[in-house]
Amino acid sequence: MGFWRPEPTDGENVTTDNRRALVWSDDFLVGVPEIDEQHRRLLELLAEFYEKLAEAEHGSEALGALVCGLLDYTRYHFTTEERLMRQSGFPESVQHREQHASFVARAADMADRFTRGRLVLSLEATGFLRDWLFNHILVTDKALGRHILSREAAQ
Ligand SMILES: [Fe+2]
Ligand SMILES: [Fe+2]
Repeated sequence: MGFWRPEPTDGENVTTDNRRALVWSDDFLVGVPEIDEQHRRLLELLAEFYEKLAEAEHGSEALGALVCGLLDYTRYHFTTEERLMRQSGFPESVQHREQHASFVARAADMADRFTRGRLVLSLEATGFLRDWLFNHILVTDKALGRHILSREAAQ
């Protein structure tokens, strides 16, 4: 699959760093294979989405399908992490689950407004998806990963 490498255009605040950031990097590893594999897939879906966004006609059905696919996979991934939190007795699970829920609410609202023709998807409108996911993986999911690894090491 290709990664998202559109040329910056006027009116869209696309920096070189933003584009490079959509390529998987081992900096994202949290150390739990099940989570890491899903994060890899999530990044692939996100890159595919941004790639189509850069070339698609606004409002295209293909774009709508990608948004829904991304949302579905995100929900599935959050369910996996929340199961691992329960199984490992993660002490910060309330805050972590709240972050998941608020992201899903925001992304679902965006997808809903898009499918009803009330929102034109643009790199600007969807930039938060990437920014949120990266911050969440690097801070919140890594904390979960450390917890799970320390529990495994203690067994
Ligand atoms: Fe995650
Ligand atoms: Fe998470």
